[in-house]
Amino acid sequence: MTQPALETRDLTIRFGGHVAVDSVSCAFHPGTLTAIVGPNGAGKTTYFNLISGQLRASAGRVFVYGDDVTALPAPGRTRRGLGRAFQLTNLFPNLTVLENVRLAIQARRGLGLNLWSVWSSHRELIGEAEAVLERIALTAKRDALASSLPHGDQRKLEVGILLAIEPEVFMFDEPTAGMSVDEVPVILDLIREIKRDRSKTILLVEHKMDVVRELSDRIIVLHNGRLAADGPPAEVIASPVVQQAYLGIEPAEVSR
Ligand SMILES: Nc1ncnc2c1ncn2[C@@H]1O[C@H](COP(=O)(O)OP(=O)(O)OP(=O)(O)O)[C@@H](O)[C@H]1O
Ligand SMILES: [Mg+2]
Repeated sequence: MTQPALETRDLTIRFGGHVAVDSVSCAFHPGTLTAIVGPNGAGKTTYFNLISGQLRASAGRVFVYGDDVTALPAPGRTRRGLGRAFQLTNLFPNLTVLENVRLAIQARRGLGLNLWSVWSSHRELIGEAEAVLERIALTAKRDALASSLPHGDQRKLEVGILLAIEPEVFMFDEPTAGMSVDEVPVILDLIREIKRDRSKTILLVEHKMDVVRELSDRIIVLHNGRLAADGPPAEVIASPVVQQAYLGIEPAEVSR
């Protein structure tokens, strides 16, 4: 077995008396896509927040390629290879689509605001950013302000920014939520494409079970902040307990 790209040990957060993520221990390996499912309020997004460093754990640890990153704030974890699409919060609304992606590439390369290096590699950055726009099918809108985009396009741009950062671990939290039916395939194709790179690790929070069934190599179920099931998709989906209690699916729906 390869070394896990990401591991959480007894990861826990309490909000007042409420334990939103309760001692979750789980390892995620390169070349796998793990779907994280569970009812609303189960703790899925909070688990992501603890992994990416948006929230500080009450207890437990997070490891990236074996290194303990628990004490690192979010940007430090991004530099270690954790990449997360934030629902719209990391878009620069007053910059164009192209500039948003270019800045992400620039940040990844550590060019910062060194004007000389930015200038000398400007054309190369633009070329790279254009390639990302191609992948997210936003080339036609390259000069539009991010704030002017319809919701679905903003979500695609978020994924573009994530691609530009080139993380080792991709974390998607309901990436197609609020998208129109014709936009969904663009995102799913991108996830499939990332999956083909066997060195990458993907975590996907998703409510749509057809998507989960198709894309995942493994499903974990969170319920009341606890890891309630973990296994191959067919096995987890078929387990009656999971269906009724955790997925809210009637047994009849499962047999397709
Ligand atoms: N910052 C916070 N302060 C207090 N409680 C919080 C905070 N963030 C999350 N919670 C609580 O933690 C629990 C888990 O919420 P979370 O958003 O992680 O669920 P989820 O599984 O992502 O649900 P959904 O499927 O609806 O997105 C909920 O009860 C929520 O109210
Ligand atoms: Mg959520």
